[in-house]
Amino acid sequence: MADNAPTPQTEPLANPFRPGNGVPPPYLAGRDALLAEFEAFTRERPLHPNWTLTGLRGTGKTVLLADFAARAERAGWIVLQREVGERHRDDARLADAIEEDADALRRRLSPLAAVGQAMEDGVRHLRPRRLTIGELGYEPAYEMGPAESADRMRACLSELDAALRDSHRPGALVLLDEAHLLAEDRARERFPLSSLLAAVGHVQRSDPRVRFVLCGLPTLSLNLKRARTYAERMFRHVVVGNLDRGDSRDALGRPLAAAGRSFGPSVIADVVEATGGYPYFLQFFGAYLCRGAASQNVSADDYRALEPALLHELDLAFFEDRYEGASPTEQRVLAAMAMGRGRVRIADLRGRLASQAGLDILVRRLVERGLVYRAGRGAYDFALPLFGDYLRRRPELTELTGRVSRGAASSAKGGLGPSRPPRRPPA
Ligand SMILES: Nc1ncnc2c1ncn2[C@@H]1O[C@H](COP(=O)(O)OP(=O)(O)OP(=O)(O)O)[C@@H](O)[C@H]1O
Ligand SMILES: [Mg+2]
Repeated sequence: MADNAPTPQTEPLANPFRPGNGVPPPYLAGRDALLAEFEAFTRERPLHPNWTLTGLRGTGKTVLLADFAARAERAGWIVLQREVGERHRDDARLADAIEEDADALRRRLSPLAAVGQAMEDGVRHLRPRRLTIGELGYEPAYEMGPAESADRMRACLSELDAALRDSHRPGALVLLDEAHLLAEDRARERFPLSSLLAAVGHVQRSDPRVRFVLCGLPTLSLNLKRARTYAERMFRHVVVGNLDRGDSRDALGRPLAAAGRSFGPSVIADVVEATGGYPYFLQFFGAYLCRGAASQNVSADDYRALEPALLHELDLAFFEDRYEGASPTEQRVLAAMAMGRGRVRIADLRGRLASQAGLDILVRRLVERGLVYRAGRGAYDFALPLFGDYLRRRPELTELTGRVSRGAASSAKGGLGPSRPPRRPPA
């Protein structure tokens, strides 16, 4: 019967963009020079034996770390990547993690190291007088009581270093993502970063065979400086941010061309402008427009029709949850921060929020939530790119959401429909 006849299936239009967390983009734009420098770092004895890689949320740090790992492995290094968590603020837990990582790396160096490792692991639990595996005998010496965290890290990294010296490998690379979480907490006597730096500094004294890349929000650089004054000499600080206009155009244009799709020339320029060149936003805008437009080419009219709903979905996907997670008083602080553009001095914030008690504690909580970072002495900024713009347009967003939930919005494909004239987001 005609009514029940299946509707002909049309091939969905290709969508090459990949907004996500640590998801490799279809084309990694604007990072060639940095990747070449990283390769040089794996080949030579560099001025700084370690790197920090810092940037705001969604700037492409995790993607770069994965690329670093692949390149280092191709150059013969043994590599381990770890995402640091809240629990590693405790130096004993961090020492456990570093021991685990150093052990895993040593196991990859040689079967003999793996045998030695198995013996040591057994020793940790059983404490026998002598162990024998095949031809190999081993008489362990037991430590009295738990060693200090820094000593434990130093010991396991030194063992890894010694194993590397006897191997044909150029070195071992440990990449720690979200490392800004490793802040010192004097009140609770937790010094994870100082302990790690002391251990790394020790093992790199003669030859930097074991190297670290610490990656995270911009606060990481300040945390390092505060932890050890000599951290300055240990790390090269690499900052990743938004892409320039040409690279942003490539980030959009190349994947489109490879997928057989296109954006009108003004659309590319508009998206580059609206996103400020932030990698996550470029992927998000690209994916949304590809999904929403009905033909291979996304025209300026398509963009105008889809843009309000796109911004609304971006707000919901990226900003709103994080904003709603803050308490009403913390939200007041965020709104006061958004009154100006760029970083804000705590003294100015105090002026804008004269009646607010406990401002320092509120700001610290916002830092802990990952919404704000310490941008310098007594100065703070938003950790999410374009968050200030979002806060400034939030009253309109609330109004749009209300209208959408009352059913006033039209039904544009791919999301909530536009119900008002398109508007340029603030640059
Ligand atoms: N150079 C680039 N060109 C195009 N897209 C990119 C580039 N770098 C990253 N992206 C895209 O941006 C998004 C965010 O990347 P990623 O998760 O690595 O960011 P991040 O800095 O680690 O974010 P967070 O701080 O939230 O962990 C991903 O969708 C990724 O594909
Ligand atoms: Mg990341």
